[in-house]
Amino acid sequence: MQYNIYLFGAPGAGKGTQAQLLSEKLGIPQLSTGDMLRAARKEGSELGNRVASLMDSGQLVPDEIVIELVKQRLARPDHQSGVILDGFPRTIKQAEALDTMFSATGRSPLRVISIDVPFDEIRRRLSGRRWCSRCNRTFHVTDNPPRPGNGCEGGCQLEVRSDDTPEAVEKRLQAYSQQTAPLMEYYQRRGVLKTVHGLGPITEIFASLQASLAA
Ligand code: AP5
Repeated sequence: MQYNIYLFGAPGAGKGTQAQLLSEKLGIPQLSTGDMLRAARKEGSELGNRVASLMDSGQLVPDEIVIELVKQRLARPDHQSGVILDGFPRTIKQAEALDTMFSATGRSPLRVISIDVPFDEIRRRLSGRRWCSRCNRTFHVTDNPPRPGNGCEGGCQLEVRSDDTPEAVEKRLQAYSQQTAPLMEYYQRRGVLKTVHGLGPITEIFASLQASLAA
């Protein structure tokens, strides 16, 4: 069975955390546009330099850029048996482009799972988020600290993401409300949207997510 799953949710809802677990469980790759853009910045590529200030200020990068990135990534052989989309699509234009990519390549239909978390909890989570630039895992200072076995051998190198400042977080929540939240209705109308409650331990949310995929 080809799984094509889109984890939908506000910034900090736990999409990346759950996508990583699901990718390990199902053995299919996670495709995170945020990770791809951060990698481009780290390489110092022309694309990375173009998107840096937009990302740091909490704005979305132009549709054309992310659509092209996703198109290239989906064409890779290791993405043929399925994919977990994390952070894409984020606008109606991106969703329409994804529909076109899927129908052009005969992929199984997309299954969309929304992780529902109130904005106050999101603010709390993002103020304590840390990530490791070596293993690319995300942690939380109190709720999800690095432990032996879930990060780099010898210890992770923890950093605060440059867009986790309180100002950028507010901008990201605003961008989500205005540009991304309308996708709920887009996918609801197609009958492919399910919602999981995103509060509680990571393992419990993961169990709900798997149950909703099995239903
Ligand atoms: P991106 O990297 O996609 O950021 P985001 O959507 O803002 O999502 P986050 O990575 O912040 O959160 P998440 O939901 O993955 O939560 P996480 O698992 O880390 O995008 C960054 C930027 O790139 C965008 O702002 C934009 O500029 C650009 N961009 C990317 N894609 C784009 C697109 N398609 N179009 C245009 N621009 C695009 O969890 C958050 C924290 O909570 C962590 O500390 C984690 O440990 C903790 N946590 C997770 N689950 C729980 C739990 N159950 N309980 C307690 N803590 C938890």
